Amino acid sequence: MTRASAQSAVQKFANERAQDEAFWQDVARQYDIEPGPINFEHGYFGRMTREVLRAYEQNLAYVNRSNSVYVRQRFDTRDSGVIRADLAQLLDVSVEEIAFTRCASESLQTLIRNYNELQPGDQVLISDLDYNSVQTSMRWLAKNRGVEVIEISHAHPASYESLLNAYRDAFAAHPRIKLMALTHVTHRTGLVMPVQAIAALATAHGIDVILDGAHALGQLDFSLGELGVAFAGFNLQKWMGAPLSLGFIYVKQERLSSIDPDMGDARYAPDDILGQAPYGTPNIPALMTLTKVFSEHRAIGGSIVKGARLAYLRDLWVREARNLQGVEVLTPDDPRLYCGITSLRFTRQADQLLMTQRLLDEHGIFTVARNGSACGPCIRITPGLVTSADDVARLTEALRALA
Ligand SMILES: Cc1ncc(COP(=O)(O)O)c(C=O)c1O
Repeated sequence: MTRASAQSAVQKFANERAQDEAFWQDVARQYDIEPGPINFEHGYFGRMTREVLRAYEQNLAYVNRSNSVYVRQRFDTRDSGVIRADLAQLLDVSVEEIAFTRCASESLQTLIRNYNELQPGDQVLISDLDYNSVQTSMRWLAKNRGVEVIEISHAHPASYESLLNAYRDAFAAHPRIKLMALTHVTHRTGLVMPVQAIAALATAHGIDVILDGAHALGQLDFSLGELGVAFAGFNLQKWMGAPLSLGFIYVKQERLSSIDPDMGDARYAPDDILGQAPYGTPNIPALMTLTKVFSEHRAIGGSIVKGARLAYLRDLWVREARNLQGVEVLTPDDPRLYCGITSLRFTRQADQLLMTQRLLDEHGIFTVARNGSACGPCIRITPGLVTSADDVARLTEALRALA
């Protein structure tokens, strides 16, 4: 069997599994859920399963009991390395290419702050779909490195070609671009960027990419080493279902010297990624819990199965919503460009924030309003692993009633 045919067999299995409500009911039973509205805002952070929560509580109690005796003798010298190696294996990258941080924002800010190849007069690129803290960090470079920030807006509705053209045009118009931010899955509309194609284009122009993988990890099936980006920042609390407070940076082996040690860190060699992540005592019990998190992630079938389920739930409501007068679905249906997260707008209503309140008050559906993208304010709908097809039917009814 070739790699491509093996891949398509796995995808076929994932797509079938995605529709197996009994399987997902079993998955949902692994979580404790507070009674309340139907949650369609699983994009903020993921829930831990009951087992992960129990492991976390046990680790917390253990670290609290044993204090530095465990941490100095075992965690710092051995266990933290084992956990890091487990993450590297999951990502299929070398362990020397990753270092833990506290969240995706910290990861991305660290990479942006410590990237050492900018000269005054260089240009850096951001788009309207990048995350706010990434945009502000890239703008910070203007003041602190003397670079010019180029800001582009993506066309709406987006297409594979329009996204590529936006970068192609920007690279042609601004030949001094040296560094760009790229968001794998934008938090505003859930749009999935064709990262590999954009990164190839960037590389051809000698442009480095810092990839924001906050929403991608755990719901998109990708090979980090094959994306063609040298630098990336992630968190682990969204689609991996890890305890809050964990993230990591990725720097491709041959580019480790392009990132400085953080704030002059001198504990490690200058090109050791461990010194490139911010210093500080981490959430040790949370890190210890990752072993359980990764084993559950593998057991469910990994990102390909989680992603197929989330995209299936998304398709269920989007198919209905596309036919509703008064509702515009902003995220395209090209399977290369979407995942479980998708945004809509009530076109006859001026205030989308008010509509999230009406969804909640009148229909018991919890969502979040998002703005900042050039395509305008919207409502983000994010199912989770505990969402059922019945929940989606309730959402669709609500949209019909409010349209
Ligand atoms: C696209 C994107 N980037 C970065 C972040 C920041 O992640 P964190 O909360 O881990 O800092 C988020 C958080 O929602 C996000 O959606």
